[in-house]
Amino acid sequence: ARIVYRYGDGTTRAVERATPASVMRAAVEAGIPGIVGECGGQTMCATCHVYVADGYLDRLPDIGDDEEEMLGCTASPRDEVRSRLSCQIVVGSGLDEIEVEVPETQI
Ligand code: FES
Repeated sequence: ARIVYRYGDGTTRAVERATPASVMRAAVEAGIPGIVGECGGQTMCATCHVYVADGYLDRLPDIGDDEEEMLGCTASPRDEVRSRLSCQIVVGSGLDEIEVEVPETQI
């Protein structure tokens, strides 16, 4: 699976994964700036907030109750359509690629 992380300055970082992982876990393991994952993926920190690129939104699972609650606590403003917690998005099982924008305030 392939994950592209996009930044406000126009740069991108890409990560290739051989095994399934959340977009948060893949970023932390690859040292991608701006995705902290403080709570380890327990939907308790919102430091994994991302804006999902157009074209991938309708392929994601629905926002769960815990995620909905934490999306109210993000450092950068929530975008009603594109904001997700990246620990709740798994690539490598069903979803093979995704592109996300990393919020400025997390970098
Ligand atoms: Fe803490 Fe996603 S890693 S909410």
